[in-house]
Amino acid sequence: MQSLLEQLFAGITTKSAEETERIARAFAMLVPVDTTLAFHGDLGAGKTTFIRGLARAWDIVEPVTSPTFNLYTLYEGSRQLVHLDAYRLDSGADLDSLMIDDFIRSPWCMAIEWPERIADSLPEETWHLYLGINDQQTHTIRLRL
Ligand SMILES: Nc1ncnc2c1ncn2[C@@H]1O[C@H](COP(=O)(O)OP(=O)(O)O)[C@@H](O)[C@H]1O
Ligand SMILES: [Mg+2]
Repeated sequence: MQSLLEQLFAGITTKSAEETERIARAFAMLVPVDTTLAFHGDLGAGKTTFIRGLARAWDIVEPVTSPTFNLYTLYEGSRQLVHLDAYRLDSGADLDSLMIDDFIRSPWCMAIEWPERIADSLPEETWHLYLGINDQQTHTIRLRL
């Protein structure tokens, strides 16, 4: 039996949003505290769906949607979850300039959609997740450290 992390390194295919959320919930338990997660993938690939699963694992019950009007959303749970959408950041913007460090407390997780916008300022230890769509229901998730 391969561990979930081994399966994610190899790439997991899910057949529904619920399955992606379930995998995210299990994955959440394996993420070290104070880790940045970068979610790569096109619109609709399942980045927000996965992050919703993380939130549920950390006892966050609020709706989790893409932060459209604000740059990021801070959720309080058994971990603080910062959900950042870097899509609308100015080019040249970096993480430090958002001063998120000033208010997050350990244990936290920073989940970043469109991380390539701020690639240069991501912590070196960032865990990268690559999400893709095969067809309407079949999506893939791959982990790279
Ligand atoms: N296997 C799957 N995994 C994740 N999402 C899926 C899957 N199958 C269908 N979906 C749907 O795809 C959409 C993914 O949207 P979302 O998570 O907001 O993507 P993103 O944040 O990458 O733009 C949702 O409407 C979800 O219900
Ligand atoms: Mg999204």
